Amino acid sequence: MKKVLVVNASPHKSEGVVGEALGLLIENLKASRCFEIEVFYTQQQDVAPCTGCMSCRVCGSCNYRQDDSQVFVAKLQNCDILIIGMPTYWANMPGTLKVLIDRIVYALIRKDEKCMIPVPLHKGKKMVVITTCSTPKPLNFLFRQSAGALSAVKRIFKICGFRICGTLQIAGTCRGYVLNDRMRKKISCIAGKLLRS
Ligand SMILES: Cc1cc2nc3c(=O)[nH]c(=O)nc-3n(C[C@H](O)[C@H](O)[C@H](O)COP(=O)(O)O)c2cc1C
Repeated sequence: MKKVLVVNASPHKSEGVVGEALGLLIENLKASRCFEIEVFYTQQQDVAPCTGCMSCRVCGSCNYRQDDSQVFVAKLQNCDILIIGMPTYWANMPGTLKVLIDRIVYALIRKDEKCMIPVPLHKGKKMVVITTCSTPKPLNFLFRQSAGALSAVKRIFKICGFRICGTLQIAGTCRGYVLNDRMRKKISCIAGKLLRS
């Protein structure tokens, strides 16, 4: 069984558009009985912002404060596939996700002492990123709304060794939005890709 860690970075948990998309992807994956799935809600966690002390770069752990960032690290180290679902906030990822990523640098990359190039700590793991935004198509692309959030997250996790094997941008998520058939089909394609990979 492959271990899947699903990060839901929406404050609306399963009631939001991110929650709906992730729920459908999880449903698709569960149907294959090949995956063990765990969901982590960033909004529900106690994670203090990074103080920028840089000591984690030396000792390989964060000793600032014991909170849910260390809990997340244990789950991340144990997973084969990482799925991140997030709403677009100011053309980027939401704060809860950024605060979490800032606190766990030591568990994502290691500095090579000789050449100072970051060494990825998750080489070979697979990843899917889903973003939602209220800006409708094609403005979400033109003004880099969900596209901005997506590229920020992709850039970080690629450095850490993750191979992005599926992305989805869901645009125009005004009140009462429900996933259309095209989006549902795309989600089941992503599930199929994860199953085959
Ligand atoms: C603080 C905040 C900032 C936002 N910034 C953007 C933005 O820059 N571009 C955009 O298109 N939508 C923006 N939105 C709208 C959300 O991306 C949109 O409502 C999202 O799809 C909601 O997902 P959810 O239902 O899972 O929470 C913002 C919403 C909030 C609350």
